[in-house]
Amino acid sequence: MASIAVLGYGTVGTGITELITKNRERFKKITGEELKISSILVRDIEKHREKVYSNLLTNNIEDIFRKSVDIVVEVMGGIDPAYEYIKRALKLKKHVVTANKDLIAEHGKELLDLADKNGVTLNFEASVGGGIPILKPLMECLIGNEIKNIKAILNGTTNFILTKMDKEDLSYEDALKEAQQLGFAEANPESDVLGYDAARKLSILSTIAYNEKLNWRDIVTEGITQIDKEDFKYARAHGYNIKLLAISSREEDKIYAAVKPVMVKNNSQLGKVENELNAIVLEGDAVGKVLFTGKGAGMLPTASSVFGDITDIIQNKNKKVLRFNEKEASVQKYWNNSSSWFVRIKTKARIEVMCSIAGDFENCHIFSKYATNPGEVVALVKCKSEDFLSSKINKLLELPYVHEIKRFSIIEN
Ligand code: NAP
Ligand code: HSE
Repeated sequence: MASIAVLGYGTVGTGITELITKNRERFKKITGEELKISSILVRDIEKHREKVYSNLLTNNIEDIFRKSVDIVVEVMGGIDPAYEYIKRALKLKKHVVTANKDLIAEHGKELLDLADKNGVTLNFEASVGGGIPILKPLMECLIGNEIKNIKAILNGTTNFILTKMDKEDLSYEDALKEAQQLGFAEANPESDVLGYDAARKLSILSTIAYNEKLNWRDIVTEGITQIDKEDFKYARAHGYNIKLLAISSREEDKIYAAVKPVMVKNNSQLGKVENELNAIVLEGDAVGKVLFTGKGAGMLPTASSVFGDITDIIQNKNKKVLRFNEKEASVQKYWNNSSSWFVRIKTKARIEVMCSIAGDFENCHIFSKYATNPGEVVALVKCKSEDFLSSKINKLLELPYVHEIKRFSIIEN
């Protein structure tokens, strides 16, 4: 008998209890173990009175540890008090499964060390990519590879919002509301829309992929709040989609990492990923490029990953615990190689601006045809580095007739 305490009975917690109930017999046949939920921690018991396991509810953490528990499943979210509860569980030699990327990105190393010290496991597959199996394949199946780069859509809420704005002409606010109703968004959705959630996931993924601790705060992060309907119109007209991409790559002794809205070809692997789906393209030196895709958020997809982690613990009780490397990665914040950019310059002096940018960049294609808005210049420029682009943009912004400049990196494949 494996006894499981669940901390949190929201979107993911409800999904886990459903999967435990549904898979009980099959699980016993496969593993020889019976799964039992010992208790469920919530803040407000009344809110959950109508749910299946209402008899197991408590709002007192002491009740959780008072009972016999083998695995603590943390799906409350946030740092406090999840951090203290997980440390307590590990010190009591309980295995832990969590979907909490905020916590793993912030305290992953310390918690994994603590798990190792106490001879237990800390699994967190659901913390990156929701229902997509990505951490285990990366640590196990791809172990023979040096990972060269990662390009990924790692946030379901923002991909859902961008898809709805583009394909259904929904407003940003309505699309966000729908994502919240569907249980995709974080308790504080700023974490999704400002790109922090994707940055935390990218830091976890990159720390494992490059075996160097990549601090999520070192990642230059831009969200989706500035994107408007005109951006989609321009992108569509040139065969692109706009996606919030999380990108990292090994660049000699540094790791380049960024989260930003990018224009990608609409028929490319990442360009075709819609709604709450996530996708991760990893490039290994032996395997080449591998694509992982599936639902990156939602009740049952996320619970699927958590259930996999629980099973893994039960089937491999003495497995060696993953550790994060102590070595901190040196992060390169800007893209140093030649690349193309889509720029929108708000100005009343279109001719002057067009002349200026035509001379500034090695390659500059002005989209006069699509500039339906007479107050702006829209162009595709190519330049040797992101620093170079930023310096030219800053110079343009000093001109009295230039009011605002928006830019999107372009990824062709
Ligand atoms: P949620 O729906 O907001 O549920 C959170 C649950 O935790 C609620 O039942 C809440 O209790 C309980 N809780 C929160 N703080 C608590 C506290 N201090 N003491 C006791 N109980 C507390 O959140 P969720 O969407 O399930 O997400 C849970 C975790 O999974 C987060 O770390 C999230 O980032 C991660 N995750 C979510 C998804 C997704 O699609 N939703 C996907 C991957 C990972 P009350 O109900 O009483 O307030
Ligand atoms: N809020 C997150 C997202 C949940 O939208 O991707 C899954 O981690």
